[in-house]
Amino acid sequence: MRQRKVKNVENRLAEYADYMIENPSLMKGKWKDSFGNDNKIFLELGCGKGQFVVAKAKTNKELNYIGAEGQQTVVLRALEKAAKEQTLNTRFMTGFIKDITEIFEEDELSGIFLNFSDPWPKDRHSKRRLTHKNFLEGFKKVSKAGSILEIKTDNEKLFEFTLGQIEMMGFEIVELTRNLHISGCDSKNITTEYEDKFKAFGKKIQFVKVALK
Ligand SMILES: C[S@@+](CC[C@H](N)C(=O)[O-])C[C@H]1O[C@@H](n2cnc3c(N)ncnc32)[C@H](O)[C@@H]1O
Repeated sequence: MRQRKVKNVENRLAEYADYMIENPSLMKGKWKDSFGNDNKIFLELGCGKGQFVVAKAKTNKELNYIGAEGQQTVVLRALEKAAKEQTLNTRFMTGFIKDITEIFEEDELSGIFLNFSDPWPKDRHSKRRLTHKNFLEGFKKVSKAGSILEIKTDNEKLFEFTLGQIEMMGFEIVELTRNLHISGCDSKNITTEYEDKFKAFGKKIQFVKVALK
């Protein structure tokens, strides 16, 4: 996701102190304290400009949501949305996550969303794909029993790769469709920025939901 430069981005991020977590690794094992309740916590890894995670939070006020986004200028847009919608059950962090276990304790999350993750098409970059089994192992560790992982993508090659990694991990597939928006899956109801764009072009969205534990 390319972004124009934003002046003083760090100062701008600091304006959203209620929503922004500056040092996510210090929150390991303590994320519930940042929400001030014991409600379940869900993560969107690569949340972009936050449309999905903010809409989820508005719909499910009894659940907590974290949006993680590598690019500061992009997470700024997500913070603006959260502040506008007053979704007090959202938190955001910035930085490219390499090892999820540095940020979350075992059993800390109840579900993870990967929406339109970067496909990293070259084989030599396959370990960078967020659905590589190294990431999936981390997701399993930080998730409690009954947690789900939901993945949406327009990219067929990434989807096939992902299904292979899911099989290797032995995760149970709960839902799978190669055309989400003509399926009966509820997961079509809350969309992301990329999803809206691809839908408008008539591109099929592939979707899989698995049980992590
Ligand atoms: C293609 S965009 C999709 C954004 C959004 N999920 C959507 O569907 O509209 C992928 C985003 O994931 C972010 N990203 C990729 N790898 C990441 C990582 N390891 N940690 C945090 N963010 C990451 C990128 O910066 C980019 O903004």
